[in-house]
Amino acid sequence: MAVRSNFVWLTLALSFFDLTCNASPVRQRAAVPDGFYAAPYYPTPYGGWEDSWKDSYAKAQALVGKMTLAEKTNITGGSGMFMGNSGSAYRVGFPQLCLQDGALGVGNTDHNTAFPAGITTGATFDKDLIYARAVAIGKEFRGKGAHVFLGPMVGPLGRKPLGGRNWEGFGADPVLQGIAGALTIKGVQEQGVIATIKHLIGNEQEMYRMYNPFQAGYSSNIDDRTLHELYLWPFADGVHAGVGAAMTSYNAVNGSAASQNAYLINNLLKDELGFQGFVMSDWLSHISGVASALAGLDMSMPGDTQIPLFGNSPFKFHLTEAVLNGSVPVDRLNDMATRIVAAWYQFGQDKNFPAVNFHSYVSSEKGLLYPGALPVSPIGKVNWFVDVQADHGSVARQVAQDAITLLKNDDNFLPLSTKSSLRIFGSDARVDPDGPNACGNRACNKGTLGMGWGSGVANYPYFDDPITAIKKRVENVKLYDSDDFPHTLTPSPTDDDIAIVFINSAAGENSLTVEGNHGDRDNDKFSAWHNGDNLVQKAAENYKNVIVVVHTVGPLILEPWIDLPSVKAVLFAHLPGQEAGESLANVLFGDVSPSGHLPYSITKKENDLPDSVTKLVKEIIGQPQDTYSEGLYIDYRWLNKQGIKPRYAFGHGLSYTTFNYTDAHIKIVNALSSALPPARQPKPSVAILSTEIPPASDAYEPAGFSKVWRYIYSWLSKSDADKAYAVGTSSSSKSGSQTYPYPEGYSSVQKPGVPAGGGQGGNPALFDTILELDVTVQNTGSRHKGKASVQAYIQFPTDSGYDTPIIQLRDFAKTKELGTGESETVTLRLRRKDLSVWDTQKQNWVAPGALGANGKSKRYIVWLGEGSDKLFTRCFSDTLVCERGVEPPV
Ligand SMILES: *[C@@H]1O[C@H](CO)[C@@H](O)[C@H](O)[C@H]1NC(C)=O
Ligand SMILES: *[C@@H]1O[C@H](CO)[C@@H](O)[C@H](O)[C@H]1NC(C)=O
Ligand SMILES: *[C@@H]1O[C@H](CO)[C@@H](O)[C@H](O)[C@H]1NC(C)=O
Ligand SMILES: *[C@@H]1O[C@H](CO)[C@@H](O)[C@H](O)[C@H]1NC(C)=O
Repeated sequence: MAVRSNFVWLTLALSFFDLTCNASPVRQRAAVPDGFYAAPYYPTPYGGWEDSWKDSYAKAQALVGKMTLAEKTNITGGSGMFMGNSGSAYRVGFPQLCLQDGALGVGNTDHNTAFPAGITTGATFDKDLIYARAVAIGKEFRGKGAHVFLGPMVGPLGRKPLGGRNWEGFGADPVLQGIAGALTIKGVQEQGVIATIKHLIGNEQEMYRMYNPFQAGYSSNIDDRTLHELYLWPFADGVHAGVGAAMTSYNAVNGSAASQNAYLINNLLKDELGFQGFVMSDWLSHISGVASALAGLDMSMPGDTQIPLFGNSPFKFHLTEAVLNGSVPVDRLNDMATRIVAAWYQFGQDKNFPAVNFHSYVSSEKGLLYPGALPVSPIGKVNWFVDVQADHGSVARQVAQDAITLLKNDDNFLPLSTKSSLRIFGSDARVDPDGPNACGNRACNKGTLGMGWGSGVANYPYFDDPITAIKKRVENVKLYDSDDFPHTLTPSPTDDDIAIVFINSAAGENSLTVEGNHGDRDNDKFSAWHNGDNLVQKAAENYKNVIVVVHTVGPLILEPWIDLPSVKAVLFAHLPGQEAGESLANVLFGDVSPSGHLPYSITKKENDLPDSVTKLVKEIIGQPQDTYSEGLYIDYRWLNKQGIKPRYAFGHGLSYTTFNYTDAHIKIVNALSSALPPARQPKPSVAILSTEIPPASDAYEPAGFSKVWRYIYSWLSKSDADKAYAVGTSSSSKSGSQTYPYPEGYSSVQKPGVPAGGGQGGNPALFDTILELDVTVQNTGSRHKGKASVQAYIQFPTDSGYDTPIIQLRDFAKTKELGTGESETVTLRLRRKDLSVWDTQKQNWVAPGALGANGKSKRYIVWLGEGSDKLFTRCFSDTLVCERGVEPPV
């Protein structure tokens, strides 16, 4: 039961228009810029050839082989908006699957944990914590009986700093997203829950993302190399981790809607990345039946057409018809169904999987079984209130705490003594007085910002707010509970008072608008909400020492106050989820040192970044065009190329203590003996089920079946089934002159597989470790414990022949908490892919530094640092020398 209740008003409005205007699907469309095209790629590669999935496919094929046509088409689609779950094939033992939001915890239920958001998790730069959070999330989904976790979200990547959903992902870098996404998949799937990597691809802004009867969703126009090296990169890591499901995005790519973009799904995802699971549409993004099935879509969610709640669907009974009439080949439907059933077996869901024990749209014990069938839905028990929290609050608190990023700490002003006299400003310091869940889908900003809004949220079981945690430790505290600076301050400020100002910036899904922000931060932009920058300025005028705490979805411009002499310290606490209080207090009062790092850069001004990423595309008529003209140069890649110093660079984060990084070593684990990876193995052929069009009787609606109103079924009436069967089996279609207008370039012959493919995530050789580095980190401070996160950035050979960003993150490793004087050696690894560029001519990954025919290799430099602008050691791939104290390239 995925929650998309936020669409209700939008979709009801659209349905009204539809009834009066009888609109055809897509009318207007502005031209996609020259050079961008969505090439055909058919047919959909069969799943099941990859070793680690073979057993599951064998079982799945046996089960699907027993299914009737209507059962196969039943499981490839949802049962309708607010009806919950996909269709079943109970007769053969296949249940309805519960597919559930959100990326930070089980959505729309109770007794669950509201974990810190993805962006917060990314800011920990801590692989163990990222994984621990995922394990806990997976346990909670399983405990609630949810088969499919609709996360992790690695797209949007964070190309546009104002983009509405960046906070659901892990940060504006493909490697940070790739590592965090893969660890999340691993942790969740080890609990027997299917993870869903999303959104494929180019959903970098919220506004204008959706197709509606009057306008096409915007087109993300992305060149091939940029797609591979930035946006597809984390998807490759996710597929390599064995992800069971993928979700397409709302927008178009190169002019073709992502849910029916054959090049994207058939070629990039299923062939090149060798994805073995199933592909679903995002809720109500599915706009065609046959075309999307041919393009590789396997599941329609929530099953409806763009105008929901009419019992109409692009798949389900229409897919049944399309198979009978010969438009969708039987082998495609078999592959769709088999992919879904195989994922179910792959994660052991055929054995002891708990029954769904909650309802997304009803919070009481009893209620409508099918709210979409209002007012005629039967009523029954829908909630069992299963408590799945266990001790996950402590994992959540650890993530929230270790993400807190100290940007500035003049004169080592932090940590504070608990004897301090504290004056707290800003409504963000305390929980929403109406309760943390007062606004549905968290679509308001009225208290400590623990998460953004939209479908990527969960209900708070409780909310530990900063003011409560601070008051637990400090006696002399006064909260000025307003975002306006008070006219009179009582008691009046003294030099001993310390002001802590809480400000925030929210964002979310476009289906809901909050304070003029349409999902994206189009209204408040890079400023703190509620005039927060002014609140800081006023506090800085009145108090000698000011600390600023920022809860935010992404970067803000801090220039209005960052250099004011009284602004001593700034903490970015990101989006902490339910554990906002103790996690912050632990840092403020020095129980722990801050150890978070920025998962994006903070620039001094908006136009330090190119317009193509800071501006949101808009179009009244026609398809908005979002062209990725900056190519590889987003965030720090752009700033470094332009020589622009940000206020705080990607990866920046201070500690209360200091670290020394010594004894760095680099070694070759596997030789990079050729620029191209070794040729892939040929794709093994897979057994397939019969491709005969099944008998029409397979699709007949059973006599006397009592249907739920508006529920989406897969059966046809006898006459429709017979008619379709007659078309499909007529001699003209048998001889190949089908009446369905197959897309240009359509073919039904399985391809051998592209050179860059060969395993999950691509050619397996791409994932071979080539270089391994280690470095000893010592806590050289004398007072505080602390954790350090070492980041490895690659600098490509200067004479590589490819234009590459100066440095790019490739791995990171965090130490345990080190006492004063204590040290730990951390290891970082670079894979063949990390040393490669995507060559658009060769359509393959090329490592330009590899041993050439002349017997020489070119030099890669691996920089180690504690921020993209704090690189302290460089190591050479050729001489295997590491040196300190050299001038970094940025
Ligand atoms: C988009 O068009 C570019 C050509 O500019 C092409 O290289 C790329 O592969 C296309 N991407 C998709 C997903 O079709
Ligand atoms: C499709 O799924 C629904 C929901 O589980 C079920 O009521 C219906 O019988 C299924 N149809 C077929 C053909 O099995
Ligand atoms: C077959 O059925 C599908 C789904 O209803 C429809 O889109 C398609 O046009 C039909 N094809 C023929 C040849 O009737
Ligand atoms: C860090 O280690 C290096 C090499 O051992 C040493 O020269 C330097 O003094 C150390 N720095 C600090 C701050 O301890």
